[in-house]
Amino acid sequence: MKKILVIHGPNLQLLGERQPSIYGRTDLASIDRDLKRLAAARGATLTIMQSNHEGEIVERIGSAKGRYDALLINPAAYTHTSVAIRDAIEAAGVPAVEVHLSNIYAREAFRHQSLIAPVCRGQVCGFGPASYRLGLQAALTLGARPRKPGRKG
Ligand code: DQA
Repeated sequence: MKKILVIHGPNLQLLGERQPSIYGRTDLASIDRDLKRLAAARGATLTIMQSNHEGEIVERIGSAKGRYDALLINPAAYTHTSVAIRDAIEAAGVPAVEVHLSNIYAREAFRHQSLIAPVCRGQVCGFGPASYRLGLQAALTLGARPRKPGRKG
């Protein structure tokens, strides 16, 4: 069974009420429920966290090695600033997929650069909550944990 760690970065706990013209009306709990349904249908398990603290995110990524097959991460504002999160993903060696609700390339110039994207397998952005679903589908194709011979999933 595949295990995926889902990380939501800062301010994403406000989804649904935060700038709905950009981020939509769907709240984080609905996104999480949807992801869990999709994962269950694919025989995978998710661990989901949200944090406003860079250090906490760094620590969770640091302890992901050997425990998760992939990371699905929306680093939110840290996308554009965090060398620490980038280094944590690179050091952990767990394949990662970066997602964003909005199209960061169609917004302010400071959002056009992701420090995280170069250490991820890929990025999905601009599709609202569907970015997460598409990102999870991609993450489910990745795998880093050693498999026990003869065991499925
Ligand atoms: C975001 C885009 C970021 O630029 C922003 O800081 C966020 C959300 C997105 O999902 O569209 O907080 O990651």
